[in-house]
Amino acid sequence: MLSAERAQGGAGHRFERAAVVGAGLMGRGIAQVLAAGGLDVVLYDAEAHILDDSVEAIRARLGEADGHGLLTGAADLDSAVGDADLVVEAVTEDLGVKRDIFAQISAATASAVLATNTSVLPVTAIAEGARHPERVLGTHWWNPPDLIPVVEVVPGRRTSAEVTERVMALLGCLGKTPVRVRRDVPGFIGNRLQHALWREAIALVADGICDAETVDLVARNTIGLRLARLGPLENADYVGLDLTLAIHDTVIPVLSRDSEPSHLLRELVERGDLGARSGRGFLEWRPGDRQAAALALAAHLTAQTASGSVRCSGQHGSGQQRGTSS
Ligand SMILES: NC(=O)c1ccc[n+]([C@@H]2O[C@H](COP(=O)([O-])OP(=O)(O)OC[C@H]3O[C@@H](n4cnc5c(N)ncnc54)[C@H](O)[C@@H]3O)[C@@H](O)[C@H]2O)c1
Repeated sequence: MLSAERAQGGAGHRFERAAVVGAGLMGRGIAQVLAAGGLDVVLYDAEAHILDDSVEAIRARLGEADGHGLLTGAADLDSAVGDADLVVEAVTEDLGVKRDIFAQISAATASAVLATNTSVLPVTAIAEGARHPERVLGTHWWNPPDLIPVVEVVPGRRTSAEVTERVMALLGCLGKTPVRVRRDVPGFIGNRLQHALWREAIALVADGICDAETVDLVARNTIGLRLARLGPLENADYVGLDLTLAIHDTVIPVLSRDSEPSHLLRELVERGDLGARSGRGFLEWRPGDRQAAALALAAHLTAQTASGSVRCSGQHGSGQQRGTSS
């Protein structure tokens, strides 16, 4: 991997010192990628034990590899972000919490670019907390950040084009595939696709068509097997748009059109059945199952990446598809 300094070009505009705010699942992975790419990274979390665990885990993963930046933890937010030229926020998915954090970060930094890792919240709304919304944008990394190539880059309504370009360049040189989202819509691209599928998956169970195990078995062993190779629109072209239209004529009218979360999902949450963390959700989870699932996922993604079956470039155009902006 190129060091961040060599690869970013644009003298005077390089990112060299990053801060990551929120050291949970996503923050620690993002910090690892930034440090592996040669940036010095300061990590901060409101919970001291989470911060300590994360710093230890990232250092262990960076190991003796050449060229990585320094990775340190900070005891408070202001000192974490004070020297940073890039701050990535990965705290709880709550608009009020994120806005407050952005207000605090932007008061403590002179000229840093501020990126939120929100999954679905409008970046423009988060940026309202900041002093300089032109320096705020979304960088939506996927879990696990070190293994999933695509990062969605979401300019807010007031984000400057230069900031967006600089962050796209940095992500590219970190080995990521940055994809620019043209408009700041909730859920961006990936989560709109993902949660359209989840809405239908939950509806199939709620309507008694099949149980949760069967939904997952079918999804994993049909569309799931194909999706990494053939995207949905490429597949529509591949089978023919006349067939796609004929199928849509029948199936679109009967798909779930719920405009709010499923009553089944609400009931499970109200009962305390939160999934792997509580031992029961749509499925049963025994102690250790969640850790085993994380390890199995990492092994699967690593194998796919190593085998070259992860496709980040277009087969039908020239060069890498680096955005939806053209
Ligand atoms: N989990 C995923 O798969 C995933 C994927 C993409 C994006 N995201 C988004 O990334 C963000 C973080 O998600 P996560 O899964 O890492 O959550 P997490 O719960 O694992 O980590 C969040 C961390 O933020 C810390 N925190 C909360 N409030 C804080 C504050 N005011 N100051 C400092 N630290 C604070 C918490 O202590 C916690 O360690 C969310 O916006 C989430 O929607 C999550």
